[in-house]
Amino acid sequence: MPKSITNAYQNDLAYIHDAGFGQFAKNAAAEVLKCLRQNRVGDGLVVDLGCGSGILAEAISAAGYGALGFDLSAAMVALAQQRVPNGKFRQESFLTAALPPCVAVTAIGEVFNYLFDARNTNARLTKLFHRIYDALPHRGLLAFDVATPGRGGKTGRQRNYSQGTDWACLFTAEEDRSRKILTRDITSFRKVGEFYRRDHEVHRLRLLNRTELAAQLRDIGFRVRTLSGYGRVKFPPGYVGFVARKP
Ligand SMILES: C[S@@+](CC[C@H](N)C(=O)[O-])C[C@H]1O[C@@H](n2cnc3c(N)ncnc32)[C@H](O)[C@@H]1O
Repeated sequence: MPKSITNAYQNDLAYIHDAGFGQFAKNAAAEVLKCLRQNRVGDGLVVDLGCGSGILAEAISAAGYGALGFDLSAAMVALAQQRVPNGKFRQESFLTAALPPCVAVTAIGEVFNYLFDARNTNARLTKLFHRIYDALPHRGLLAFDVATPGRGGKTGRQRNYSQGTDWACLFTAEEDRSRKILTRDITSFRKVGEFYRRDHEVHRLRLLNRTELAAQLRDIGFRVRTLSGYGRVKFPPGYVGFVARKP
């Protein structure tokens, strides 16, 4: 991995994300499948950028599409490969992933915001959108969601916790409004044998502007629709979804 890459979603947090936060990807998968059907795209390959533990890939694959996932986290890639044995998963940044011809590209769960790959800038994201456009056929789709300014809530600071049967997680999030950066500090506890193992990760996300993203996608040639949630589940403040269609 190049020097610009930060290791994140290591074993315990990858496990916890999969065990405790998977519903979001399930809802997103239902939305993506609905959009594919509406566009009469019945089969073909779906490329999932920041595929995590393969929850969307599993749904896509069960519906008869091929699944190819890219993620920077080795632990996530291993979980995805276990979950979807007939899918293909690679440990690679979405910025450098080679995109084969495909019917849809997805990036679910703030993937484009993360600064785990320090090369993630507006210019690199624009290049990626061009490459996605070129990989898609007529009626092909790009579906993703991002965090926008305001993600840190009214005060710009949040503290929260979450727990499952064999894990617990404590988070703080702090939004730097002038630099448009959200920093999440995550302490996790996962039961290993008799005891709980403690781990700690810091995630930095650059907050993206909804209007600029929509304009950028339209300039490339996409028809763009924004989403306020997946299905009936609405996004929190400071969050937006996009379905961009190649005409
Ligand atoms: C919040 S998780 C969402 C995972 C999955 N899409 C889901 O919805 O369950 C964000 C994922 O993006 C991945 N990620 C962040 N930056 C990335 C990059 N530059 N290239 C590939 N994956 C990246 C992380 O490793 C993590 O698995």
